Amino acid sequence: MKWVSVRALAFIAPVQAGLRFQCSTLTIQRLDPVVQPGSAPSAHLHHIVGGNAFNATMTGDVATRATCTTCEMSEDFSNYWTAALFFKHQNGSYHRVPVIPVNPGNLDGYSGTQGGLTVYYTQHDLIRDTIAQNPVKTFPAGFRMTVGSPTTTGAPHVGLRYQCLSAGGGRGPETPDFPTSPCAGGIFVTNHFPACWDGKNLDSPDHQTHVYNTITSDGFVAAPACPASHPVRMPQVTYETVWDTSKFNSLWTSGTPNPYVWSFEGGFGRGNHADYMFGWKGDALQRAMDKSECFYDGCGSLTKQAMKTASTCTVKDFVGENTDGWLPKLPGM
Ligand SMILES: *[C@@H]1O[C@H](CO)[C@@H](O)[C@H](O)[C@H]1NC(C)=O
Ligand SMILES: *[C@@H]1O[C@H](CO)[C@@H](O)[C@H](O)[C@H]1NC(C)=O
Repeated sequence: MKWVSVRALAFIAPVQAGLRFQCSTLTIQRLDPVVQPGSAPSAHLHHIVGGNAFNATMTGDVATRATCTTCEMSEDFSNYWTAALFFKHQNGSYHRVPVIPVNPGNLDGYSGTQGGLTVYYTQHDLIRDTIAQNPVKTFPAGFRMTVGSPTTTGAPHVGLRYQCLSAGGGRGPETPDFPTSPCAGGIFVTNHFPACWDGKNLDSPDHQTHVYNTITSDGFVAAPACPASHPVRMPQVTYETVWDTSKFNSLWTSGTPNPYVWSFEGGFGRGNHADYMFGWKGDALQRAMDKSECFYDGCGSLTKQAMKTASTCTVKDFVGENTDGWLPKLPGM
């Protein structure tokens, strides 16, 4: 009887593993080992964080090749990237918009973060309730996926959101497109990835059909069950990036359209997209996600590093082009 009751208790206990951590900027280059493997340069510029095995071509177990990471979790050699953001001056010149760390609020240990983005891996997304969730299976070595597409002009993909930040860092309402007037504290962008996998393919021709998104409403909500075509529940991966537009606000003439463009010349916010290359060492991520009741910390089993140490991890400049200052055109365009 005792054995039965302990098992029953374990079964109904809320499972609530969630990781949230900072990664500094690793590099800003025209490389895309998921969509354009082998191309140096790739078509447009990316802002990239994570492990130093990042390269034009990436196959196999990334964690066995990387020796450092810009992320706080030091066993995480994954790479995370999105397009870079530019300000387009009315005179036709472009200037890259700097990235600043997401306001860490009262969380400790984030000083020393340089640029970068915040990564979430959640089992039950951000709703803290008591519903038991199916366990998640973490990604296999070599797994990769993208969310969103530069060519999207219609309905935005679920989970792509923009928020205007006030000078104090307060977030305005979520929108599917760029803000329509200047944001004193910058532009906050969220990218949510699908969380169901077909269980077989590390990638697919469009980098998306091997995964499936069950979220039909906005952002951080409890996910419905995975469909039979994509039966494996994975952690929900989310990026948050803050683009510091403050120095360009005075150049945005009142009443004129949004002057910000993604690096593929995308003036329409819905074309924002994000790429993920799994690279956790061994079973580190699985161990963390198997914990029940942990959030925003190392889930009891992950090794962390100081962000000032993480920020020293770099990769070489594979492409060798200037992406700073006022530019006559976007890199590669
Ligand atoms: C990048 O990839 C190329 C081709 O696979 C390889 O020769 C090179 O050593 C890699 N560079 C780094 C810094 O990992
Ligand atoms: C556009 O304006 C910027 C900022 O004043 C300036 O640095 C840049 O040279 C200008 N570009 C052109 C083509 O005039």
